[in-house]
Amino acid sequence: MRIGILGTGTLAVGLGAAWVRAGHEVLVGGRSPERAKAAADRMGGTAVSPAEAVTGRDAVLVAVTWTGLAEVLRSAGAAAGSLAGTPLIDPTNAVRHGVGELLPEDGRAVAEHVADWAPGAHVVKAFHLFAADQWAEGKPEVTVAMAGDDQSALDTVARLVRDAGGRPAVLGPLRRARQLEEVAGFVIGLVFAGVDPSSAVPRVEVAA
Ligand SMILES: NC(=O)c1ccc[n+]([C@@H]2O[C@H](COP(=O)([O-])OP(=O)(O)OC[C@H]3O[C@@H](n4cnc5c(N)ncnc54)[C@H](OP(=O)(O)O)[C@@H]3O)[C@@H](O)[C@H]2O)c1
Repeated sequence: MRIGILGTGTLAVGLGAAWVRAGHEVLVGGRSPERAKAAADRMGGTAVSPAEAVTGRDAVLVAVTWTGLAEVLRSAGAAAGSLAGTPLIDPTNAVRHGVGELLPEDGRAVAEHVADWAPGAHVVKAFHLFAADQWAEGKPEVTVAMAGDDQSALDTVARLVRDAGGRPAVLGPLRRARQLEEVAGFVIGLVFAGVDPSSAVPRVEVAA
């Protein structure tokens, strides 16, 4: 697949490296060409401008902090439709440090804001719950819960989840993304309280 990544930080490199290992072509762009080059070198991809990173891609990951999301999408031409028709993966955790409260105060999901900033893009919330090193080689398989409205985009992201070593699960349409984002806030809040979050949810045996 031809994958684009906006963002040059920890998650961009972690997922980019996993997708390169799986045989995908990865272009990476951010606001700093130097940091894009460093990230591309670490993941085995190619550094380009933000606009080039989203052009002609089968899927795009936007891996920047909540405060930089609107700006990086603008620099990639998203408002003018550069991502229209493209599966756009949003892994953002916009949470208040330490307590895990969600930051968007209008009650909407970050992923819904992303959909506003990238008209026509097929936004899929995914990859927000696990730390970037989860996608290093040899880690035990985990389930990546996703939300999105476009079935073909969900299928594409499901393939990218498998190629990174995860197991995809669709929770529902994009309006369920806020729920997925709240789960991250719940996990982060308990971790800061010194509690293992997996001890705070029931263990349920599900028939295969
Ligand atoms: N790291 C993880 O384990 C993990 C796991 C799940 C989800 N996430 C989510 O993934 C996203 C990225 O996290 P990260 O850990 O990779 O962060 P990071 O290492 O701190 O990197 C942040 C990235 O955001 C960019 N950025 C910040 N403000 C920007 C702006 N105004 N315009 C353009 N780019 C801007 C930074 O660019 P500069 O280098 O130029 O500042 C950098 O490329 C976050 O939303 C985070 O919640 C991270």
